[in-house]
Amino acid sequence: MKAALLWLVCALTMGASVGSGPIVAARQASMKEMAAAAKTIAGMFDRRQAYDAAAFKAAADTLRARTGPALIAEFPSGSLGPPSQARLEIDQSRAEFEALANHIGTLADALAAKAESAPAVITDDMRMGTGLAMGGGSLLGKRSIPEEADPTKLPAEHILHLILQDCSTCHSKFRQKVQ
Ligand code: HEC
Repeated sequence: MKAALLWLVCALTMGASVGSGPIVAARQASMKEMAAAAKTIAGMFDRRQAYDAAAFKAAADTLRARTGPALIAEFPSGSLGPPSQARLEIDQSRAEFEALANHIGTLADALAAKAESAPAVITDDMRMGTGLAMGGGSLLGKRSIPEEADPTKLPAEHILHLILQDCSTCHSKFRQKVQ
């Protein structure tokens, strides 16, 4: 009985050590909410899910609220490394990490602004195809929209794809799976 209690106390103390605890739990929950939001929007554009302007707006707002400075604030120095999946490299490459967080933040702002005035049905100008096909050029020839094109000028679906690219870019560099 006494041994069991001691073990419990030890386990609790270890659980509160660097790299775990409320900061990590909060940011992992935040990331999961972003994943759910991105999945909702993607599902509506892919017709796997019924389109609903209010749900689109709510999901876009979630992405906006959890990127940019809010995302940066979720990764303070002492919270990195195992058992969290945040790599210690975040500290060595702060500028790059923050640039990514702000880049996705700018995209999320643009998407949320579009969602704000989203119509009751998905219109063609919200989809990726139309903007690319304009101008009479071939689809392939027009695909190379410059990376730094003003996101507010892009169709909503295209902005979503750029957002998803930023998720993967950051994960491949700054996240590691911990067993
Ligand atoms: C600037 C970097 C960065 C960006 C951008 C980013 N993530 Fe993450 N994400 C991380 C890091 C680092 C972790 C590991 C966090 C931890 O375990 O403490 C993570 C973890 C996650 C997790 C796992 C959460 C868990 O329960 O362990 C999910 C899901 C996730 N991210 C989804 C997303 C989605 C979806 C996007 C884009 C909309 C995104 N992330 C954008 C850095 C980023």
